[in-house]
Amino acid sequence: TIMPTRPDINAPLIVVSNRLPFVLQRLKDGSLIRKNSAGGLVTAVAPVVIDCKGIWIGWSGLYDLGPDESIPEADPLDKAPTSGLKSSQVIPVNIDKEDFEDYYNGCCNGTFWPLFHSMPDRAVFNADTWKSYCKVNEEFANCTLDALRNVIKDLDAEGKTNVVPVVWIHDYQLLVAATTIRQKCEEENLRCKLGFFLHIPFPSWDIMRLFPWDDQILQGILAYDFVGFHIEDYCLNFIDCCCRRLGSRVDRNNMLVELAGRTVHVKALPIGIPFERFVQLAQNAPENLNDKNLKVILGVDRLDYTKGLVHRIKAFERLLEKHPEYCEKVTFLQISVPSRTDVLEYKALKDEMDQLVGRINGRFSKPHWSPIRYIFGCIAQEELAALYRDSAIALVTPLRDGMNLVAKEYVACQIREPGVLILSPFAGAGGMMHEALLVNPYELDAAANVLHRALCMPLDERELRMSQLRHREQQLDVNHWMNSFLSSMGALDNDDDSDPLS
Ligand code: G6P
Repeated sequence: TIMPTRPDINAPLIVVSNRLPFVLQRLKDGSLIRKNSAGGLVTAVAPVVIDCKGIWIGWSGLYDLGPDESIPEADPLDKAPTSGLKSSQVIPVNIDKEDFEDYYNGCCNGTFWPLFHSMPDRAVFNADTWKSYCKVNEEFANCTLDALRNVIKDLDAEGKTNVVPVVWIHDYQLLVAATTIRQKCEEENLRCKLGFFLHIPFPSWDIMRLFPWDDQILQGILAYDFVGFHIEDYCLNFIDCCCRRLGSRVDRNNMLVELAGRTVHVKALPIGIPFERFVQLAQNAPENLNDKNLKVILGVDRLDYTKGLVHRIKAFERLLEKHPEYCEKVTFLQISVPSRTDVLEYKALKDEMDQLVGRINGRFSKPHWSPIRYIFGCIAQEELAALYRDSAIALVTPLRDGMNLVAKEYVACQIREPGVLILSPFAGAGGMMHEALLVNPYELDAAANVLHRALCMPLDERELRMSQLRHREQQLDVNHWMNSFLSSMGALDNDDDSDPLS
């Protein structure tokens, strides 16, 4: 296997995200344990934080963590990428329950999530939740500043007065944290480079302006030195908003925004997955015990209205209406991972899906076959890899999605006879994974037709498409993304910002 090159970061890195790379759980005896998370971001970024003796700041997952209570060390047998993170490198942000409710369920997931996905009718605008959002962002900022002061003190003590620490903040939960950080850094003369990556889309000005405090969001993002988005469209949307709302001077060709004499660099950096890890998972995954004559169409998503699940299931129903010959030959397996279950919109979607699946299964099922298999729950990584490996089609049709990693994980796991990826153009991934079959998820007939086409596609065409898809994802994996981000911030020694595909 190809070993991904670990970046040679030339300064300590402080990563800030809503969730820590593991959550804490309190056992009955009151003691704490780490529960690892398996996301690609954690896999890529945690080793860098470990190597550079950096710090990770985030919400612990508990409301009752004492102010002096320490984070447990990893279990000695733990093999997760975070196991080398010492407890001294992890700073939990304590947020009380009410603030968290308004910040996370209210403003993050009731306002920004739908708004940034261009679904403003689902967004709730509320001055109280916005206030809590700002308060919690300030708490994150204060924890970051404490960590930064310590890091600088240590560097100075070692005589490394030229080394500038890097602060890397993630995602829409922390859009205004940098306002406080920038201000304090200027007041106290603290040196640091501030970088931000948004993991979801950035909407157009038409949508952004609906948010009553949009200027504070834009100013918050402009408090960074460097800002990354998945694709160029999101960068241009952001630049446009700054220009129109704040009157910033902008340079769209070089992706620069100027405000109050400071220049912010903006760049499209499409995230990838830990490709080789998925290949290995697929190689070691259990064998498929299914009937070899039954083709599986696979969907895997958090249960979220942006993912287009209702449209997708209706498109599959349309396929069965138009092509009854697929009955008993094809099954659609949808895995919906529970997510944000305290938010009303997510509860409503759960009910809608339960009903829809029941109706369609009732309509088409035979004694020994059901058209839809529906799982509302989590599945283990090994099992997921087996499903990716053995499914004839991956149906990845979000209505809107920042990038979408399921599309990438599917192609990584296609190590045997290749299947077909069907992808929505409204996912960030849709703009780069050219060999997928693209379909507008709102167009049910077109989606049913594309399913038919995929089910009939000859082997040589599938092979050609899949090998190109896999090659690209192997090159542009999550390590490449992280290297590009840090390199764009000027934080790398072994600077190689070349495009591996060119
Ligand atoms: C998206 C967001 C992440 C978030 C994840 C899971 O990918 O970009 O920031 O962590 O969804 O959502 P949750 O609300 O459970 O953290």
